[in-house]
Amino acid sequence: MATAKLLVVLVALVAAASSSFGAWELNIRMPTARAVEDAAAGVAAPLIHALRPLVGSAGDLGRRGGVPCDSWRLAVEAYNKRDWKTVPADCEGYVGHYMLGGHYRRDSRVVVDEAIAYAEGLKLAGNGREVWVFDIDETSLSNLPYYAKHGFGTEPFNATSFNAYVLEGSALALPETQRLFDKLISLGIKPVFLTGRTENQRAITVVNLRRQGYYGWMKLLLKPVGFKGTAIGFKSGERRKLQDAGYVIVGNIGDQWSDIIGAPEGARTFKLPDPLYYVG
Ligand SMILES: *[C@@H]1O[C@H](CO)[C@@H](O)[C@H](O)[C@H]1NC(C)=O
Ligand SMILES: [Mg+2]
Repeated sequence: MATAKLLVVLVALVAAASSSFGAWELNIRMPTARAVEDAAAGVAAPLIHALRPLVGSAGDLGRRGGVPCDSWRLAVEAYNKRDWKTVPADCEGYVGHYMLGGHYRRDSRVVVDEAIAYAEGLKLAGNGREVWVFDIDETSLSNLPYYAKHGFGTEPFNATSFNAYVLEGSALALPETQRLFDKLISLGIKPVFLTGRTENQRAITVVNLRRQGYYGWMKLLLKPVGFKGTAIGFKSGERRKLQDAGYVIVGNIGDQWSDIIGAPEGARTFKLPDPLYYVG
């Protein structure tokens, strides 16, 4: 009896899963911050990649090609897997579906919901000294249009083509991060961008951020051209300077572990998902 009931539930679950996969089809679009208004105005978000639909649960997707891509992604997020150079070749489809099929957005939403609940619960001094550190790439802006064209992280990083993409200033706002950014401003917490992008990319980075609707940040800290240290060294050093100048880092959010480790980290850190690349 119990087995029969379980079977009915399982069949229903499988049916639900396959119908939601059917909705992906070939028209996978980047969810933009303006998606709702755009839809109302009959403007479609830009099509950034056409994925062949796959059937089955995320676990089945993960096992396609014999590689447990879901387990690989979890190890990446938990910082058990480090110093990896590329996404495993067999996981290109898995990562593509993760990024574009709604899972990435959902995972990001959970992170930002936690960050907002934390920020709203803070006893703020309200003295203009309370700041929140934001990384840029894959945190505030998404380079997914570039990565979709380059194998979703399965190709080795190509600085020439990536920098050319950055100079277009066309990266898309990550809507969940933008929600946090705007909320913090309304609470009186000042956003500070701290990025591994270099000083010679300042102008286009400002243009890109403004185009995508980011306004009201306090500082934009970029890496000096020719900086020799590690990402952790650069970012923790900049956070130290902020503290020494009298700012209180109440929060820090990034997609890489190198954004959120290295004292002073900030009173609380938040890790957004990123299965596309690793920055050590
Ligand atoms: C990197 O990108 C540039 C510009 O698109 C291209 O000319 C070059 O061949 C690429 N390098 C490699 C190793 O793929
Ligand atoms: Mg980043």
